[in-house]
Order: sequence, then structure tokens, then C-alpha cells
Amino acid sequence: MNTCELIIKKRNGGVLTESEIGYLIGGYVSGEIPDYQISALLMAIYFRGMNDAETLYLTREMIKSGDTLDLSAISGVKVDKHSTGGVGDKTSLVLCPLLAASGVKLAKMSGRGLGHTGGTIDKLESFPGFSTGIDGERFIQQVDKIGFAIAGQTKRLVPADKMLYALRDVTGTVDIIPLIVSSIMSKKLASGADIIALDVKCGSGAFMKSFEDAKTLAEKMVAVGKGAGKKTFAVISDMDEPLGCAVGNALEVKEAIDTLRGEGPAELHELCMELAGEVLLSAGICQTEREAEESLLKSLSDGSALRKLAEMVKAQGGDERAVFDTSLLPKAPVTHELISTQTGFVESINAEGVGRVCIHLGGGRMTKDSKIDLSVGVVLHKKVGDCVSAGESIATIHAADAASAAEAERLLTECYRLGDKRSEKSGIVRAVIK
Ligand code: URA
Repeated sequence: MNTCELIIKKRNGGVLTESEIGYLIGGYVSGEIPDYQISALLMAIYFRGMNDAETLYLTREMIKSGDTLDLSAISGVKVDKHSTGGVGDKTSLVLCPLLAASGVKLAKMSGRGLGHTGGTIDKLESFPGFSTGIDGERFIQQVDKIGFAIAGQTKRLVPADKMLYALRDVTGTVDIIPLIVSSIMSKKLASGADIIALDVKCGSGAFMKSFEDAKTLAEKMVAVGKGAGKKTFAVISDMDEPLGCAVGNALEVKEAIDTLRGEGPAELHELCMELAGEVLLSAGICQTEREAEESLLKSLSDGSALRKLAEMVKAQGGDERAVFDTSLLPKAPVTHELISTQTGFVESINAEGVGRVCIHLGGGRMTKDSKIDLSVGVVLHKKVGDCVSAGESIATIHAADAASAAEAERLLTECYRLGDKRSEKSGIVRAVIK
């Protein structure tokens, strides 16, 4: 086969065959096909798209590029969860212990934050001593014993995605549905779980800005998961404003703990209940929505979900006392209130902009190697639809110093739009695709 001819075929709107996609991915991972040719191919895919069969072949070839996890040593139903990424998204920190307390096993591989979106691995490192680099056997044993483990992705799991994602990131080819489907689903399928729960974010802070695109992405991922014999569902959730109030690593861990105590933001609670309820039904642990809801509420009210988080933190070398005393989490030296100069209603909050404020404060990274400050970020006191009076605090900025707090104040002010009328707010769960 000839790589250039295949690029031209796609550029001209042709459909690549299974063996052609196998040749391209195999050649790229082995180093025979250079970055510049794959960059051209990605751009051709960006403009010409891929049909469902091509997307499935690409997903399969990406899985073949590395190892797959064997979870058969873990008893019970194994679940994996993935979010397409957003701002203030601490869902996994609530969902995993909540489900583990109900007897579900979660073997979760997570990523670090990149760009304006945060990553679960960074957030968990807010627990002093916490390690996300646990190896295969320890990982499996922990999931079996405690019910869940959250680790960074190993180098050998879908190496093709690592290479392709790095290239997409610098060639303007991230936000294209077939490439997102194959990137996410190859990792989920290689991770070996029986049930795949997907949280597809939709809105200004997400890759998918429109509901239609989010729905298409969700439907295609669910189809690939089911085609591979896995129970798969997707919740489409709102990311037009940050999820909850806290944005920033340790601040989000605190908010997740508050939610496990039953004292978190209503929308975060609602999203976690929806995702967890669907998992309990898919796993056959509960037979009705009502039974699932009662079981989950019990795990929150009797403290068993919170204790599961502490068990996991301890097993991964972290200081579990911080689960019960959040003052032990990293704390920024400077706090600064963003005071409203106007009276009105919050019409919109630019979620991506808030993510960028967090990067400015040092809480997010622009390159994979940047070092981040786990203590910084913002806590929003006013969300869309809330009434604000002049002189009232809209948000608290947590910063390393006064200069970065002042610049964050300027940037955060630009993220808020106030108006005269109360905006209609759609619920956090926009749709469920099964
Ligand atoms: N998350 C992924 O893992 N891959 C994508 O392509 C987009 C979001």
C-alpha cells in the first residue's frame, strides 16, 4: 500500500477499507509512516469525515496497537466511566465511591487536565501522598478488595491514541466526531470493563458546543460499545457553565467530598445520581429506578460512600484524614472576592473562560509537562439564573499571590454576563442515550 495514495483517497472523499486503516495505524505506531503524513490524513478526515464502518475499524486498529486489560480476576460486574471533558467536572470523585458502596467494581483509568479542561488524576493528587501510578496487579487487587481504583493510563494501553492525540492537539484536528469516538472508545474497550458509562458534555465549556453534535457523538460511542458486546450508555450533560461551583484541583476535591456528605451543589448530585442509577440498572444490581435511587441515597446518608473514598485514598498512599477534614487539602495563600458592580441576573458564564482563569492562576497546564498548583482556582457563588446585587460577591478567587489574583479578577469578570431577566436554565441532564 502507498500512504500518499491513501491520503489522496480520503482527501477526495473516499472510504478507507479495514486493511487500509490497519496499514496506516500499524505503520504510524511502528514509526514507518511519519507524523507529517498522518497529520495530512487527519486533516483529510477532518474535512471528509469517516462513516460508521471506518470509525469501527479505526477503533479496533487502535486497540490492537497495545495491551488490553484483563479484569477477569475481579469478581462482580466491572464498570468504566468516561467524561468527554469539561470545567469543574469532579463527577468521577463522587460517582466511583458512590457505586463502590453499592457493590459495583470500577477499574478507572483517568487522564490529566489539558487546555481548559481538568483531569481526575491531577485532582486526586491533592490528597497528600496519593499515587496514581499503581501497577497492573496492584490495580486489579485494589478494585477487587475495595471496589475501585483510579490510576493514570499505562503507556501500553492504546499507544496509537497517545500518538494520534498528541498530533491532533497541534494540528487543529481534535474536535471531529469519528476521531473522538475512536480515541475514547478504544481506551474504554481496551480497559476490559463489562459496562461503559459515558458522560458526554455539551455547551460552551465542552468540545461539543451544540446538543445535536453531542447527541451524534453519544449515539456513535454507544453504537461502538454495543457493537463490541459491552453494555454502554451515555448521559448528555450540560457544560454551558462550569459543573458545580468549584473549579481548581483541591477546591474540586473538597466539593466532591461535600457532595458525598449530601452537602454539595444540586446539579452535581443530580448528575451523579443519574449516572450511578443507570449503572445499577445495567448491572442488574437494582431492578427499578426507584430502588436504585433509594440505594444510592442510603450510601450517601449513612456515610458508606464517603468511607469508600477514604479507603481508596489510603490504599493509594494518600492521607485519608483529608477526606474527613478538608482543611488538610492544599490551601492557596491568597483569597480574593470578585465583587459585582451591577445588580441583575446571571445570564451566562463562559465555562471555557473560567477554565482559562484557573490555568492563569497556575491550576491547569498548557503543555503536558507544566507543573500545576493544586491549591488555586475559583469558587463561584453565583450561577446562571441567580440574582446578584451590586456589592455582592460573585466568586472567591484562590491564588498564589495578589498579582495573579488581580489578573484573575479581570479575566473572571469577562466570563460573567449579567442582564435584567432571569434566564431559563435547562437541567444538568439533557438526554440519556442507551
Ligand atoms: N477525550 C479523549 O480521550 N479523546 C478525544 O479525542 C477527545 C476527548
